[in-house]
Amino acid sequence: MQTNDANHPGGAAAAARDSAFLRACRGESVPHTPVWFMRQAGRALPEYRALRGGTPMLETCTRPEQVVEITMQPVRRYGVDAAILYSDIVVPLKAIGVDLDIVPGTGPVIAHPVRELSDLDQLRPLETADVPYVSAAVGELVRTLGSTPLIGFSGAPFTLASYLIEGGPSRDHAATKALMYGAPDVWHGLLSRLATIAANFLRVQVEAGASAVQLFDSWAGSLDPADYDAYVRPYSEAVLAEVGTLGVPRIHFGVGTGELLGSMAAAGADVVGIDWRVPLRDGIERVAGRAVQGNLDPALVFAPWEVIAEKSRSILAAGRSAPGHIFNLGHGVLPTTDPDVLARLVDFVHTESAR
Ligand code: CP3
Repeated sequence: MQTNDANHPGGAAAAARDSAFLRACRGESVPHTPVWFMRQAGRALPEYRALRGGTPMLETCTRPEQVVEITMQPVRRYGVDAAILYSDIVVPLKAIGVDLDIVPGTGPVIAHPVRELSDLDQLRPLETADVPYVSAAVGELVRTLGSTPLIGFSGAPFTLASYLIEGGPSRDHAATKALMYGAPDVWHGLLSRLATIAANFLRVQVEAGASAVQLFDSWAGSLDPADYDAYVRPYSEAVLAEVGTLGVPRIHFGVGTGELLGSMAAAGADVVGIDWRVPLRDGIERVAGRAVQGNLDPALVFAPWEVIAEKSRSILAAGRSAPGHIFNLGHGVLPTTDPDVLARLVDFVHTESAR
């Protein structure tokens, strides 16, 4: 079999390897700036809502056929340069038996929040056999996507810990910090277990064919740099180092992380995601030589088109000073976003950056 046959998994991987997205991740020249959107697979799309119907999200995540279809929907609709696996950061926790659910409009809710050392017993290492539906979906997606790369992802240890400790979403992460300062043995035990789970979950996706990974430390921005370095960075670093042996680009992203960008870059990512509060030019300086991803305000898609175009143009211009730039929003697609605006934005990024 020819290795350049896009229908052959190996051939698809080879074709994806030369895509604009992976070239930008590696800091190589690109025909146009690649673009994809965090949370592109999901609620902004009517075809997603129709397919989901009344099925709970976590159940949908275990059905490879539906995962493939939902992952493909934004690729077809927007013409983005990369797909991201439809799943959730709590899927690997659920897979090892943690009692949790995703409550619509709220997010992940944990039945028995972590308080003491014995609570860590619910967190054994994840094995490939725990998530057969993830391997199946990724394998099928890579065949379907051809030369379009698939991004695998995991929650980073801190962000997973914040859900496990708070029991659900939190604004101030007060319980998380109380445990971080007050029970260091529980904290370090928890984060090291989560680092193993995250690394294993990423490995499963890469071994099944994902050609890049993103480590979401969505809530790390609630920490100051000293605490981030002392309590969090070693564990993200361990995950990124472990995944580094797999030979795919690693993207690392969090919200409100302006002051942490240097440290997050040093944790070992190839690409650092920048949220919209940081001027992209400043972000690029802070990550010293890494490629960047970002950073249009997700709420800006509700502005008149001329405003969207102007902001996007200046992001593209700033991106040229980085070794590689992947256009994205500064956080996930908001549920009320008009899909037609995102499609128009993808076209704009492609034409504007190809000049
Ligand atoms: O990016 C993609 O398109 C891939 C799919 C994806 C989902 N969750 C699907 C989802 C990804 C990458 C995630 C990651 C995720 N999940 C993160 C990190 C990214 C980020 O946004 O910072 C976090 C913090 C979570 C936890 C979580 N899961 C939240 C906060 C929510 C939203 C709760 C709500 O209903 O408002 C979820 C649920 C979730 N995950 C939805 C989707 C499409 C919406 C619920 C649904 O479709 O039923």
